Amino acid sequence: MTAQLIDGNALSRQLRANVSARVTALKAKGITPGLAVILVGDNPASQVYVRNKVKACEDTGMHSVLERWPATLSEAELLARVDALNQDTTIHGILVQLPLPAHIDAQKVIEAISPAKDVDGFHIASAGALMTGMPGFWPCTPYGCMKMLESIGYELKGKHAVVIGRSNIVGKPMALMLLQQNATVTICHSSTQDLKALTLQADVIVAAVGKRNVLTADMVKPGAVVLDVGMNRNDEGKLCGDVDFDGVKDVASWITPVPGGVGPMTITMLMVNTLESAERLVA
Ligand code: GUN
Repeated sequence: MTAQLIDGNALSRQLRANVSARVTALKAKGITPGLAVILVGDNPASQVYVRNKVKACEDTGMHSVLERWPATLSEAELLARVDALNQDTTIHGILVQLPLPAHIDAQKVIEAISPAKDVDGFHIASAGALMTGMPGFWPCTPYGCMKMLESIGYELKGKHAVVIGRSNIVGKPMALMLLQQNATVTICHSSTQDLKALTLQADVIVAAVGKRNVLTADMVKPGAVVLDVGMNRNDEGKLCGDVDFDGVKDVASWITPVPGGVGPMTITMLMVNTLESAERLVA
C-alpha cells in the first residue's frame, strides 16, 4: 500500500466536536438546532441511514424528530407534513429520506421544503445557489468530499478532477464545488466513451456511480487522490465502494476507504448544515 487513508471517521469526530461546541453556544442564546427526518415506507437501507442521522443529532446535542410513515402515505399527506414542519420554529432542517414510494413525486416534495430548511441541499433554490456561488445549503455528500480534500491540504487550483457519475445528489454538485475551487472538471457517465483515457489524466477522481469496480488500478495515474462515494455489497455481502480499493491503494497517493470514508462525512455535513441553519437566526 502506498496511498495514505483519508479517515472519514476521524475527520467526522473532529468536525462533530466543533458542531457540539457551537450547539452549546447557540443553546446559551435560547436556540436548540432541530432536524426533522421523514421516512416513508420500510426500505431497510433507509432505516439504517435515518437512525444514524437521528443518533448524530443526539450525539451533538441537537433536537431531532423522526417521523415514520407507512408506504401507503399519500403525496398530499406528505406535502402537508412538510408544510407543518416549514412552520415549526423548533425545526431548522427538514430531510425527506429518499427514495420515496413510486406514487409520490419526490421532486415535488423536495420543492415543498422551505429553502431556508433544505439541509439536504436538494431544492432547486439550493442547486441554483451552488451553481452561482451564492450562500445556500450544499448537498452533504459532495460537501463532505470537499472537507476531506481540505483536511489533507489539497490545493485544487489548476488540477484536473474527474467525477464519475452525474446524479443531482452527488455527481453534479461535486463537479460544481470542484470548479468553484478552480479545478478543471470532467464529468463522466454511462455514455462516456473511454472512461480510462479520462481517469488516467486525473489528479483527483471521485467515483459516485453505485457499482463495484468502476475504478481499477490500471485507470489511475500514480499519485492521484481517489474519493470513493459508492456503497455496495460484494459477493460475500461485505460493504464495498465503487473503487477496487486493494488495487488502487497501490497507485494513488490518498484514498478513502469504504466503510469509514465518505459515508460518515455525509451525516457530519448534515449536522453542519442544520447547525448553520439555526445559527442564521442569530447572525
Ligand atoms: N438517500 C440516500 N442518500 C440520501 C441523502 O443524502 N438524503 C436523503 N434525503 N435521502 C438519501
